[in-house]
Amino acid sequence: MIDFKIVHVDETDSTNRWLKENGEGEMVVVADFQTAGKGCGTNTWESERGKNLLLSVLIHPQKVTARTQFIITQIVSVALCNTLQQVMEPLTATLPPISIKWPNDIYVGDKKICGVLIENRLEGHRIKDCVIGIGLDVNQTEFKSDAPNPVSIKQLTGRDTDRDELLHLFLNQLQLAVENKGIHQDYKNRLYRRKGLYPFEANGTRFMATVVGTTDDGRLMLQNDEGIAHLYRFKEITFIIHGDA
Ligand code: BTN
Repeated sequence: MIDFKIVHVDETDSTNRWLKENGEGEMVVVADFQTAGKGCGTNTWESERGKNLLLSVLIHPQKVTARTQFIITQIVSVALCNTLQQVMEPLTATLPPISIKWPNDIYVGDKKICGVLIENRLEGHRIKDCVIGIGLDVNQTEFKSDAPNPVSIKQLTGRDTDRDELLHLFLNQLQLAVENKGIHQDYKNRLYRRKGLYPFEANGTRFMATVVGTTDDGRLMLQNDEGIAHLYRFKEITFIIHGDA
């Protein structure tokens, strides 16, 4: 069992940055508000004060190398899906599926409920520190940022969720995912757009394809409508989601 030290802060610029500067051992930092929350790439992460789960987890995986680091993405994504499944039970039967939009956005139907930003500090081939930043939309019901398709647990279930309880559910699910020998299959089974043909865009060209799975190094495999498979790295492929231009 990973014994995390949990620190709550009212406000910080970014929990990922806070943990990189102040973290030691196995540690979790949770904030009520971030003044400069980081999203993927150059994006920012907006979240109403006190409404959502904003956390970062510091781990020092002994067996994971730079080459195998995609396993962390798989573990965290599956743990988040299982947490959401647990917290929205029994309503999940009537809700759209909870899935992973490759590599690690968590979706309910065609809407994003959670974003993940993993920042690894390497030492040679080893991962010295791994900071896993998670922004999970919990009790917020209005989104003012230009994020295209956000949704929260409250919007889906109509009720408030206790953020502390949710954090503990997630840490339990994270432990289970670490021990799960079938994690790659569970990740694959949860992939968004794995059944049916959907629009994608690569190199300025749109085409119809389905998600087949991922490689060990984290590339996405799509199969187009002619049955031809192709591998893509992050940023090489865009999912065209209903309502996008
Ligand atoms: C994404 O763009 O999808 C990733 C968003 C990650 C946001 C979380 S909120 C907690 C942690 N601290 C940050 O500054 N970012 C991550």
